Amino acid sequence: MSESVETKKLTKGVRATVKKNVPKTAVEILMNEKPLDPVYETEGQVCGQTKILFVASEARPFIATGGLADVIGSLPQALAKNPAYDIRVVLPLYSDIKPDQRRKLSFMGNIYTPLAWRNQYCGVFTCVENGVTYYFIDNEYYFKRPGCYGYYDDGERFAFFSRSVMEILPFVGFYPDVLHCHDWQAALAAIYLKTVYNNKPEYQKIKALFTIHNIEYQGKYSLDLLEELFGIPSEYGYYLEYNGCLNLMKGAIEVSERFSTVSPTYAQEIKTAQYAHGLDPIIRRNEQKLTGILNGIDVDSYNCETDKALFANYSTDDFSGKAICKSELQKMLGLPEKDVPIIAMITRLVSHKGLELVKAGIENVLHEDLQFVLLGTGDAAYESFFKDLAMRYEGKVSANIAFNGDLSRKIYSGADIFLMPSISEPCGLSQMIASRYATVPVVRETGGLYDSIKPYGAGGNGFTFASCNPYDMLYVIHEAIDLYKNKSAWIELMKKALNTDFSWSCSASEYAKLYEETLA
Ligand code: GLC
Repeated sequence: MSESVETKKLTKGVRATVKKNVPKTAVEILMNEKPLDPVYETEGQVCGQTKILFVASEARPFIATGGLADVIGSLPQALAKNPAYDIRVVLPLYSDIKPDQRRKLSFMGNIYTPLAWRNQYCGVFTCVENGVTYYFIDNEYYFKRPGCYGYYDDGERFAFFSRSVMEILPFVGFYPDVLHCHDWQAALAAIYLKTVYNNKPEYQKIKALFTIHNIEYQGKYSLDLLEELFGIPSEYGYYLEYNGCLNLMKGAIEVSERFSTVSPTYAQEIKTAQYAHGLDPIIRRNEQKLTGILNGIDVDSYNCETDKALFANYSTDDFSGKAICKSELQKMLGLPEKDVPIIAMITRLVSHKGLELVKAGIENVLHEDLQFVLLGTGDAAYESFFKDLAMRYEGKVSANIAFNGDLSRKIYSGADIFLMPSISEPCGLSQMIASRYATVPVVRETGGLYDSIKPYGAGGNGFTFASCNPYDMLYVIHEAIDLYKNKSAWIELMKKALNTDFSWSCSASEYAKLYEETLA
């Protein structure tokens, strides 16, 4: 299987023996407490380190379809800077992982994963990047397909993945202190840990933390699949059963010692029927286990001073490069090169991104002297709406129906205003990325948008509106356009956006506290 990957046989879980200074706890090192005496490594691990295993279905730079990949690509690396942690990540080995990433992987060997009556090949590949050890679960029957999700047997694919996570622990020689599972695709890893594996001494010590990145996608399956597909004995059915289905997200919330979501405001919102997609009674019943921690972003990658994808670089001291980014973007998209505000949206074209508000309101602002740039793919109806808009407002609207990382950076840097009117937004990363390029966010006050962007009128870093109503959105867009005409005030606001700290430093210490609570 996966012949394209270099097969270099490694000895199980072995790394060079090192001598490290390891502090008592992760939180103490963050508080600059003096480290304890040196501790020696045993069998590939440093004594005293807290061992965390992230289980997720995507992570940059290997494979990405959305914000989850950004978080799993940057949070483990931010945590790994702290010597009190041994951070590892396990992912499926999709065939869509590009050859330049595949080349980094070494083959460790294979085992067979039991899944109900099945017994499936499970290859294990590994690599180390920026202090994080990655493991990849290989099975071509499940993962040699284009894309990551959307197959009739996704339940079986991610059950195999989650069950394999349990099975590889003795094989790779790593039993984590905390199994940190993300979203429904990894929910079964926590569920298996606390059910099928709960009679094994090495597994009994492992605590589970489950993070919800979006409560809309819960992993719902018919009740009869519990034993036949997932291989979970019926006595544990009550963990997963909910409203006449098996609900994997519900099961993970029930069994995990703690669960979290990606902003403090979303943690409050999902206790309500308006946001919880039916899970609010479960969230409320478990609310003493719930924490909301705002995501950070990789501020080294999203850096207007160094980003090579930009037409020119710039900084708070000198925005002349941003003017070049803007005029080159206009040229590239066939818009007239002139000094009018560019409003940009980079988004999946789905309704919870607030596109009904945009549909209802955008033509109102298009009567002003400005330009509107969209980048995204999604529901066909929205794609046609924006294509049609671009045709009717030629020279004013540019609709780019695509998913393109390079173009997204050119738009983030070349635009002036970034519009994100989401109906719900667990965290949202685009408003933070736009800010890193001094493009001022206009957001609806929900979830992580509320936690990261504060209104200009109150001395904040952007523009915000509260109700899901196109008139309120238009009101703040007009405020932004008016302020844009006041050059010195606008430059001050650009600086404020750019200087907002969206790095992981603060949130990584909140995760450190959460791991301690999970272990307590
Ligand atoms: C999901 C959420 C988004 C969040 C991301 C990373 O994609 O919809 O709001 O930023 O996960 O946690």
